[in-house]
Amino acid sequence: MRIVIVGSGAREDALSWRLARSPSCESIVAAPGNAGTASRGENVRVSVTDGPSLVELCRHRNIDFAVLGSETTIAAGVADRMAAAGISVFGPSRSAGRLESSKIFSKRFMQRHRIPTARAAVVHSLDAASRALAEWEGGVVVKADGLAAGKGVVVTKDADEARAVLRDWYGASGIPGGGNGVLLEQRLEGRECSVFALSDGTSLTPFLDARDYKRAGDGDTGPNTGGMGAYSPADDLPANALDVIRERILDPVLRGLQADEERYVGVLYCGLMWTQAGPAVIEFNVRFGDPETQVLMPRIDGDFAALLKSVADGATDASAATVSARHCVGVVLATESYPYASTPVNDLVPDVSLPDGCQAFWGGSTLENGHVRASGGRVLTVTAIGDGREDARVRAYAAVRTLSSRFGNANLTYRSDIGAGAQP
Ligand code: AMP
Ligand code: GLY
Repeated sequence: MRIVIVGSGAREDALSWRLARSPSCESIVAAPGNAGTASRGENVRVSVTDGPSLVELCRHRNIDFAVLGSETTIAAGVADRMAAAGISVFGPSRSAGRLESSKIFSKRFMQRHRIPTARAAVVHSLDAASRALAEWEGGVVVKADGLAAGKGVVVTKDADEARAVLRDWYGASGIPGGGNGVLLEQRLEGRECSVFALSDGTSLTPFLDARDYKRAGDGDTGPNTGGMGAYSPADDLPANALDVIRERILDPVLRGLQADEERYVGVLYCGLMWTQAGPAVIEFNVRFGDPETQVLMPRIDGDFAALLKSVADGATDASAATVSARHCVGVVLATESYPYASTPVNDLVPDVSLPDGCQAFWGGSTLENGHVRASGGRVLTVTAIGDGREDARVRAYAAVRTLSSRFGNANLTYRSDIGAGAQP
């Protein structure tokens, strides 16, 4: 089949890499793609939120199947437009996409359908926030309602710290993402993990799990980022974790979506905290994660394209692809100013070839006259697969050193502790 992948980050590079290796994939177009996708198909310049042009692209190229990479594409209603045009599409409707694009919608959905999550209050002004915090005990997580590219969540230790954030948001700096609603949430303690489940509208099947590293610095210090690395599987969860997640979270989510008549076709990324009382949802995302996808794809065997297409067509064929028991670790190489600024890097060598079992995926970038221009921020994710997490980690850092010396002049930085730490 002919596939279009919409997006331009390392996540879409990893998806296109895996899709292109699927027996049922005939060709791949990336819209707009990056330096990595350019090497395995055609890149077409089009905005990821421009529904009419994306539909036109699919028609013009006789595309059989579209995979939507990012939340901005879903929030722009691109899946709705494609579905209305008769194009088979992996990605939920704009309405169901509110599980990610509105934290208030998402929290109300969880409360209505009794899905375990942190206690929360919704406020629309500084006064209302002060009243909600008057009797608050413990830490507060302050969340802007809308999409804010990872900048809309601040974890605080108590109500005083939360008040300072709110004064800033309702004052000089404005609420990240530009909305007006804010969610105040009880801070949960535990271990975080990400579970990716495939939804074809009538079933919600757990598929893969991972852990990502959101903070910029070693030891989880420094500012929040889009993610500085990840590993899969999240190997320190209880042995029956997936059964518990299915029963307490995925089954009620599926029933809730059906009861609310939401069209959900695609992947549901459940950001979970494993607390003393079991798993609680921190957030839902309505697409694959970045950098999690870069460590998930190397673990998949079989026909991944056929699997995603079966999901999009409403009848998940779980036998089309399987998940290997091996571990994968991925390290993000970013520009020094990340996450504060995106400083473009010019004239990078396009060669990211690495030994077998290692793979590098480009972030936002273009290939021009034999050189790569990276838009800055997260430039590359370097991954390695291994028999255990430690084996994968050692191989991933060896690959990082190889690539850093190839990109010597670019001053890329990375965390040195991805995948290290407690083993089960
Ligand atoms: P998000 O942007 O929603 O992924 O949140 C960013 C990070 O904030 C998460 O990965 C968690 O580490 C943290 N976080 C969000 N909500 C909570 C919560 N209720 N309790 C503890 N940490 C949280
Ligand atoms: N790694 C976090 C995200 O994709 O939202």
